[in-house]
Amino acid sequence: MSFIVAIDGPAGAGKGTITKLVGQKLGLVNIDTGATFRCVALNMIQEHIDITEEEKIREMLNKMNIEMHPDGKIFLNGEEVTKRIRENDVNKFVSPISVLSIVRNKLLEVQRKIAEGKNVIMEGRDIGTVVFPNADVKIYLDATPEERARRRVIQNQEKGIECSYEEVLAGIKDRDKRDSTRKIAPLKKAEDAIYVDSTNLSVEQVVEKIIEIIKEVTKKKS
Ligand code: DC
Repeated sequence: MSFIVAIDGPAGAGKGTITKLVGQKLGLVNIDTGATFRCVALNMIQEHIDITEEEKIREMLNKMNIEMHPDGKIFLNGEEVTKRIRENDVNKFVSPISVLSIVRNKLLEVQRKIAEGKNVIMEGRDIGTVVFPNADVKIYLDATPEERARRRVIQNQEKGIECSYEEVLAGIKDRDKRDSTRKIAPLKKAEDAIYVDSTNLSVEQVVEKIIEIIKEVTKKKS
């Protein structure tokens, strides 16, 4: 039997950083489901497949193999793509392809399989609502769009990527709208998820708060 912590929330809320740290502290396997959507987007770019070509997408998905290694490295069809899936062309393509039911159905299978038999902390948009509606602990991690844009600009500066705050903020608002208004598995808080607003909290404070919630919820359930 596995123990599952689901962390959902919008782009830039800090899910990646927080999930990794909480996972390390509690000995949970960290699974980034956004990376699986990014692998599909990259595979489509590599094979020059357009979003309207359903039959080609189906064939590609049937052959596709995604591996997530414990050290955080991600492999697509045997090739390491850990950094490649964070590049701009993938950033732009991933949200549009994540609305396709054929893609979501396939990845639902992939994500459940990756978690099988393990104790995991899984981050995404629909983990507590669709992928694992019976997760042991559900958290919805949020922050204002302005704060998320501010953090993303700092991250980009650290990586040497030039961008304006206005441009990043507009991108975040656009992605929020797409992710939360799509018909299948939209981004929304599960009714039984605990809401954490990280706008005015440091990374350490959020990690502490989430560990506290996980401990409290599991104590109540046992
Ligand atoms: O978390 P991220 O930025 O790497 O996610 C990339 C895209 O994948 C995001 O635009 C929404 C989509 N996604 C999704 O639809 N469902 C998930 N569980 C995770 C990501």
